Amino acid sequence: MPAPVRVGILSTANIGGRLITALANSPAAELVAISSRDAARLPAYVEKFKIGAGVRQHGSYEALLADPAVEAVYNPLPNSLHAEWTSAAAQAGKHILCEKPLARDVAECRAMLAAAETAGVVLMEAFMYRHHPATRRLREVIAAGAIGAVRVVRAGFCFTVNDPTNIRLRGDVAGGSAMDVGCYCINFARLVTGEEPQTAYAVATFGTTNGIDETLVGTLSFPSGAVAQFESSVQSAGRAFGNVLGSQGTLAVERPWFPHPERAVFQLNGQEVVVEGGGDPYQNELEVFCESLREGTPLPLPPVDGARNMAALVALLQSARSGQPVPVEVV
Ligand SMILES: NC(=O)c1ccc[n+]([C@@H]2O[C@H](COP(=O)([O-])OP(=O)(O)OC[C@H]3O[C@@H](n4cnc5c(N)ncnc54)[C@H](OP(=O)(O)O)[C@@H]3O)[C@@H](O)[C@H]2O)c1
Repeated sequence: MPAPVRVGILSTANIGGRLITALANSPAAELVAISSRDAARLPAYVEKFKIGAGVRQHGSYEALLADPAVEAVYNPLPNSLHAEWTSAAAQAGKHILCEKPLARDVAECRAMLAAAETAGVVLMEAFMYRHHPATRRLREVIAAGAIGAVRVVRAGFCFTVNDPTNIRLRGDVAGGSAMDVGCYCINFARLVTGEEPQTAYAVATFGTTNGIDETLVGTLSFPSGAVAQFESSVQSAGRAFGNVLGSQGTLAVERPWFPHPERAVFQLNGQEVVVEGGGDPYQNELEVFCESLREGTPLPLPPVDGARNMAALVALLQSARSGQPVPVEVV
């Protein structure tokens, strides 16, 4: 058994709690350090997530990156800061598990990939749902021809955020529904088609004061002729789904983004497919990252995939602002 990967966390982000649980449960890694822009925030974080006394606490991200005890960082900063701190971590020789979406645009993604490659460190985008066996099964059954050729993909990830200071409702940190959750739907469409979209068209409702896309309906067309349509919202009732219409069958997932750790279910041609014991997607994601770092195993989802997802995302946002279809940049 290789030595546990020593992980440090950038910021007191809420989502950090999921990683802290995964780190506590996995033999592959251990939490060695946490950090915040403001050291005064650390005690409450320690208390909230029951962080052990042996975990080092840093009052700046720079200090965490300079800590020799840290081998790898988890970057759950606001989207606008993913690129800057991922590149800084790479330059400090740390491997990086970076939250989705990988950055704000394709140029930032390319710079992150280059920084990781130059430093010889692993960079992985934290799309946890991709690391659950139920998600892998979707692609496998489609690739095996269970529904014929993919014709139409529909997906949704919608909910309400009330606090105007939440990063999702802030344009200055690259919030908005497409960046926050539309990225899952794009990722799903790319997964089930096995293709990259060519053209994006979207209509959105933009916030009058924050300028973010509160609700967005996007359409992506793929080279095979498949079309994906999705909805993302941070100002609506909750709804999540992923459906695929094929030339000879259908597939439907009720909980695509949070597959159940014990019993994940989807419908294939009207029949239930059950995937038992798939585990916690956050722990699976962490372990895939650690295995790549320790064993040199290729990542199932290399970082260029994050750049490709971003290419579709920015094309959709550009289309929503211009009212015109936008070609998706080839990455
Ligand atoms: N994979 C998933 O399931 C999942 C779920 C939720 C979110 N996410 C992603 O994770 C990231 C964080 O989301 P979150 O909901 O955890 O956000 P959050 O609770 O607001 O955390 C972001 C943290 O970034 C730090 N920060 C640095 N500069 C900031 C600024 N200018 N404004 C606000 N915060 C700043 C703050 O920590 P300090 O002040 O302590 O430095 C803050 O606590 C996003 O990229 C999001 O897309 C992923």
